[in-house]
Amino acid sequence: MKKIIIAIDGHSSCGKSTMAKQLAKEIGYVYVDTGAMYRAVTLYALRNGLFPDEGIKEAELKAAIDAGKIQISFRFNPETGRPDTYLNGEKVEEEIRQMAVSSHVSPIAALPFVRTLLTEQQQAMGREKGIVMDGRDIGTAVFPQAEMKVFVTASAEVRAGRRYKELMGNAKTEEEKAALDFQEILKNVKERDYIDSHREVAPLRQAEDALVLDNSDMTREEQSAWLLAKYKEIVS
Ligand code: DC
Repeated sequence: MKKIIIAIDGHSSCGKSTMAKQLAKEIGYVYVDTGAMYRAVTLYALRNGLFPDEGIKEAELKAAIDAGKIQISFRFNPETGRPDTYLNGEKVEEEIRQMAVSSHVSPIAALPFVRTLLTEQQQAMGREKGIVMDGRDIGTAVFPQAEMKVFVTASAEVRAGRRYKELMGNAKTEEEKAALDFQEILKNVKERDYIDSHREVAPLRQAEDALVLDNSDMTREEQSAWLLAKYKEIVS
């Protein structure tokens, strides 16, 4: 069967990654979570004090990138059946999902030199096709020629509820659980929607030839079945 590129874009916390991972597993494709790559750069910036007060130390971040000090990779984890994200050889899969990273990632993802670097790496990963990549600009900027494009969305409230549940599940102590605030998460979801859709370089937008999926009222199983059926239509 011919191998294709599957681009899955959409708003934050709409279950894109879960759907994309599931599809990749079912059809034996490589899965790439490009949000994790922007999150890993953000973690590097946080750890290295590149977020003083409100701004970002852009020149220092660029120098670190140019010097090859930010190496992002994925390694398949047989226990979870999913790839884990590594930053300079260290597994950072859990840390990049925490609120500190979520609330700093959009301005990092708006920096043109960060996008250029990560876009090139993503294009290299797709050279052989047989890939499911999820993000914000995959069908528009990274692989405008992708054979299958899906744009996923759901209401902000539904998405904040999903993120809340996920963070609760990841919280290791009662204190961490108690610190989670639904309203704060909802605000973060809305802010990220705004920044992601209004940035100058590769803003989040639906590709003209994308299939749209609003999954506010769908179960995971329904979404997966929908996606698999679309894939089969396209490759048949
Ligand atoms: O999907 P996510 O929430 O893990 O993405 C994290 C951030 O990275 C989000 O603010 C949007 C940004 N992003 C992007 O700009 N382009 C991508 N291809 C993927 C993510």
